Amino acid sequence: MDAAATNVVASWVPALELDELWEGEMTAVTVNGTSVLLVNVDGDVRAYRNRCPHQQWALDEGDFDGEVIVCSRHLWEFDARSGAGRNPATCSLSGYPCRVDDGMIHVDLGSP
Ligand code: FES
Repeated sequence: MDAAATNVVASWVPALELDELWEGEMTAVTVNGTSVLLVNVDGDVRAYRNRCPHQQWALDEGDFDGEVIVCSRHLWEFDARSGAGRNPATCSLSGYPCRVDDGMIHVDLGSP
């Protein structure tokens, strides 16, 4: 194990009960003062910074069809599973590690 790897410590924080985020849904939660967008893509949960990379609009005000997140401000589109931009393709969402333990979604916002 290299030295850099030993310094990386995940800090998982409970964010939301999985039962409150059905497949095909997205919602915003506040974790340690940060607005986080949680998305359930076919049973897999993803977590992103709840800000559009274009002009920082709140993404939870947009639409989600189960595959694509659409920002309500200027209709930029993002792949919900990867966070990659679809239109335009030159941008992407900022993602956070997330996992589900005992029915609770946890996110890791990184070291303070
Ligand atoms: S702020 Fe999201 S598309 Fe412009």
